[in-house]
Amino acid sequence: MLVLGIESSCDETAAAVVADGERILSSVVASQVKTHAKYGGVVPELASREHLKKIVPVVEEACRQAEVRPEGVDAIAVTEGPGLIGSLLVGLVYGKALALSLGKPLVGVNHLEGHIHAVLLQNKMDRLSGQTVEEARLPALTLVVSGGHTSLFLAESSAPPAPGRPAEITYRRLGQTRDDAAGEAFDKVAKLLALGYPGGPVIDLLARHGHPQAVPFGRIKMRGNPFDFSFAGLKTAVLYRVRGTPLAAEAEERRGWRKTAGPVTPDDLRAHCSSSTLDLIAGFQDAVVTDLVERTLAAEDAVRANTIFVSGGVACNSLLRERFAAAAGAPASARLNVFFPSPALSTDNAAMIAAAGYYRLLAGHRADASLTAHASFPLGVGA
Ligand code: KG4
Ligand code: ZN
Repeated sequence: MLVLGIESSCDETAAAVVADGERILSSVVASQVKTHAKYGGVVPELASREHLKKIVPVVEEACRQAEVRPEGVDAIAVTEGPGLIGSLLVGLVYGKALALSLGKPLVGVNHLEGHIHAVLLQNKMDRLSGQTVEEARLPALTLVVSGGHTSLFLAESSAPPAPGRPAEITYRRLGQTRDDAAGEAFDKVAKLLALGYPGGPVIDLLARHGHPQAVPFGRIKMRGNPFDFSFAGLKTAVLYRVRGTPLAAEAEERRGWRKTAGPVTPDDLRAHCSSSTLDLIAGFQDAVVTDLVERTLAAEDAVRANTIFVSGGVACNSLLRERFAAAAGAPASARLNVFFPSPALSTDNAAMIAAAGYYRLLAGHRADASLTAHASFPLGVGA
């Protein structure tokens, strides 16, 4: 079954063709980074307009690369939420119109479920290509960590709803951020320090040149649900360590330099950062990663799934990957398996939407003409 996936929930216009939920025939992502970079974050109005410009060529390109005409796909899967409403509507209306005009089934997909399916899709592709990797099995504790989300779910297989129909995945929400998402904290700290947008990749690279112990931030404390997250306080703590110090003047100098410098490489940027700034960046990243890993491992202790999935843009972070790999490799955790998608499947893409849509279609879900977009669209039940 060939599924055309369409994703437009934030600032990437994406389309992909995936065969049988396990082989990516094409995955095209048009990034809007250049449009939003000068604002240090996504501007919703501009994002919708960019989606409108890109949606048709991106879908056409996905079909061209997959060597399939739109009428050759078997179904269309489109992100219905959560996300920016104006952005979601562009992909959703286009997907709906395409399905209607081609007479193909349409299915709506929760963006967060897409991120979780990115892990399963990666695992299937790795195994199909002959790599000796463990099978990513359910139940799995899943950390979805991106610019818009930081949530922990327990993903489980339900009993097959009817003979011949596959089991569906059910999601129990264990915790989520009460304020900023982790990726948002990376982006805001990068904006404060004039490091560019998006902040995550550049902080990841620069942090390697700093000493995290030189600027310790301490643990993030949470009252109530220990599996909830909060990064707004950490972001403010960074602000207090910069404001009124030479680091603030240095950031302003960097901002001025960046305005005239044209495209900037990470090495250029590093050359414009003092060792104190690099230490601060390393300390901040260490605090975010430590919190994400410790809360996830604590939740794993509670649910004992023995399997952890990590996905979303922040899953690209090299320190996060190292720390989870170390946790999985620790002698006490002999049975813990941790799975990440490749960086391209970790950030927003439509292959994960097509893969999630494939399983929803198999389970009998079909969207009708009433399908609409939801800015807020909780996945599963729970906290
Ligand atoms: O999943 P995604 O593409 O979009 C959302 O659904 O939000 O994630 C984008 C987020 C941005 O906040 C970006 O700064 C962050 O992922 N990110 C990273 C890294 N690469 C991307 N954060 C930390 N380290 C990275 N290497
Ligand atoms: Zn996302």
